[in-house]
Amino acid sequence: MTAGKFITLEGVDGAGKSTHLEFVSDWLRQQGREVIVTREPGGTPLGETLRELLLHQHMDPDTELLLMFAARQEHLARLILPALARGAWVVSDRFTDASYAYQCGGRGIATERIAALETWVQRGFQPDLTLLFDVPPEVAQARRSAARAADRFEREADSFFSRVRHAYLDRAQAEPGRIRVLDARHSIAELQAEIGQQLQTLT
Ligand code: TYD
Repeated sequence: MTAGKFITLEGVDGAGKSTHLEFVSDWLRQQGREVIVTREPGGTPLGETLRELLLHQHMDPDTELLLMFAARQEHLARLILPALARGAWVVSDRFTDASYAYQCGGRGIATERIAALETWVQRGFQPDLTLLFDVPPEVAQARRSAARAADRFEREADSFFSRVRHAYLDRAQAEPGRIRVLDARHSIAELQAEIGQQLQTLT
């Protein structure tokens, strides 16, 4: 049993989710919650070391998947679960839906492999709410080009991001109660209003 709640933000690179991370944490703090903001891959010292490798080192797709889950195990055991247990709320920039979207949708790894790792590492644990920032590929592409030097994922072709996007939308369709799709073409003010409404349902 956990006392706090776990919220994740997802979307293709360039959807703009990082912009909204701060809004989510500020909103929750205004409700008097203790909030921990974290990210995947990463969130712990070992996880951040794995992130460096994952974002910059060429590797086999299965290695990539296994390292994502190794980082996730560390993240859950050392940061997420202890924080929730003491009543803090945890907001993570990406979680397991990203593995389904990028490693399954993008790289083509079988869903069953990811599901097996998910069961192993999470033992049924799931986010309480996932905000999926959805944008058409051309919008995401334009936002990515404007950003800093691209990492290994950001250098992928448009077809890769199109598969990632559809894998995310499939997840949302399968789990409409947990995953809320937000149209990331909306203005920041509109999105903040929508995010506030979603967060209200949890408090
Ligand atoms: P991202 O969250 O976009 O960070 P930044 O905004 O600093 O670029 O970068 C993390 C990358 O890792 C992103 O391209 C998606 C990828 N990723 C996966 O492929 N699988 C996963 O399970 C996770 C958590 C991330």
